[in-house]
Amino acid sequence: MAQLIEPRHTARLTLRAFERRDLDDLTAIFERADVNRFQYSEPRSREETRAVLASYMKAPLDIVDDNVLNVAILQRSSERVVGAFMLRWLRNDHHQGEIGGSLHPDVHGRGLAVEIYRELLLIAFDEIGLHRVIARSDGRNVASIGSLEKTGLRKEAHFIENEFVKGEWTDEVVYAIRRTQWQATLSH
Ligand SMILES: CC(C)(COP(=O)(O)OP(=O)(O)OC[C@H]1O[C@@H](n2cnc3c(N)ncnc32)[C@H](O)[C@@H]1OP(=O)(O)O)[C@@H](O)C(=O)NCCC(=O)NCCS
Repeated sequence: MAQLIEPRHTARLTLRAFERRDLDDLTAIFERADVNRFQYSEPRSREETRAVLASYMKAPLDIVDDNVLNVAILQRSSERVVGAFMLRWLRNDHHQGEIGGSLHPDVHGRGLAVEIYRELLLIAFDEIGLHRVIARSDGRNVASIGSLEKTGLRKEAHFIENEFVKGEWTDEVVYAIRRTQWQATLSH
């Protein structure tokens, strides 16, 4: 299997493991109300982010259920970490995974999420050998849904008011892509 924590390059980004020096950049993302709006998390302080970063920096273990590959997204033009994404393998026996993450609003709307998801799917399907990858989102999160659809994931489920998050009932949508569908997207 490929060494997942080696830095990987896309057109505009480097995907790499988190490092201690990422604390300021990560705090700038996690402290924002807009970034946390449609997630379970609340805006986090620098000290709270320090603890999250420490958990991200733990070396990835073997591929077992619920393991997470946490990926720092470095914008090469600025040498700044502008995002935190993850690839989780959910059920190793069924070869299922999950992708997701956040970008700093300074860089929203430039197609970076699609660029990141494509690289994470390459890892998931081509290197780990997963069969199907899902992404979950709040049904109101049009940016998240748009970036998933543009990556080639398709809506499989829309759960109506299935969660009580931040004081209100919320809808959850589940998007997914199977290996064969992903292979078809590569030829486009
Ligand atoms: C969700 C998120 C990662 C998307 O990142 P992004 O790089 O801005 O998304 P992209 O530029 O790749 O968008 C791809 C497509 O999604 C759609 N889209 C993106 N942002 C949108 C918005 N605000 N409103 C409507 N559609 C949007 C568009 O169709 C876009 O394609 P186009 O620009 O060619 O029209 C980013 O908005 C984010 O970090 N949000 C805060 C954290 C979050 O909610 N994460 C998801 C948790 S489930």
